[in-house]
Amino acid sequence: MPRDNKSSLIQKIASHAYATFTNCCSSAIGENKVFLDNQAALTALLTQIRAADLKIAPPKKGSKSTHNPPVTYMHICETDTFSMGVFLLKRGASIPLHDHPGMNGMLKVLYGKVKIMCFDKSDKPPDPAAENETLFDPPLSPFQKDALSLSVPRSTGEFTQHSDPCVLTPVKNNIHQIDAVDGPAAFLDILAPPYDPDGGRDCHYYKVLQTVGKNVDKECDQSRVEETWLLEIPQPDEFWCGGEPYPGPPVSV
Ligand SMILES: [Fe+2]
Repeated sequence: MPRDNKSSLIQKIASHAYATFTNCCSSAIGENKVFLDNQAALTALLTQIRAADLKIAPPKKGSKSTHNPPVTYMHICETDTFSMGVFLLKRGASIPLHDHPGMNGMLKVLYGKVKIMCFDKSDKPPDPAAENETLFDPPLSPFQKDALSLSVPRSTGEFTQHSDPCVLTPVKNNIHQIDAVDGPAAFLDILAPPYDPDGGRDCHYYKVLQTVGKNVDKECDQSRVEETWLLEIPQPDEFWCGGEPYPGPPVSV
């Protein structure tokens, strides 16, 4: 029997993620047919994975965990090419709006339901209206203007174990928020390349700003109506991520 048939599904996913993302992480990635073919095959593998494949199960109803972190992470593997692990969200938990600079990502729900709200960074020049701090409600302090950026809402959707993976690229869906819906949830997460704060791939957190009135943009072109101002913020106090052991099949890459 070929060795590959003995591999667990998560091992196949890891091996395929390594092959897919090696030497393929650039902003021109959408033009690369080999990458797209590999990514489609990886998506097909991810679509099959279930919590039981990783020996993970939803927490029992009624279990109280008020002193634990709202989100925990099970590390599975990491190379220079990609990292893979499982995020577990408690009931009502959120991973706040954050980015993955220069990175690709694939997210597959294992149990529960999550709502994912995605934004793309806008490549348009800053709007002169932002020079006026009173555009925002509440008004910004002058030093906050340096932390402003424009983005475009890309998609909002709910995902369960039966959904296809949510895919992000360096330019598409790259900024996102993930909320547990109607109970605890868990998802498998692949990031390529991994976060690397020393290499310029650090995570940033954002807050959606409310502008004062819809008419503020009336002199701007129509495409700006959809744009949203984001303010970079420190990691929100209500969010922190603990760790817990990964109980599933061993993975080597
Ligand atoms: Fe993320």
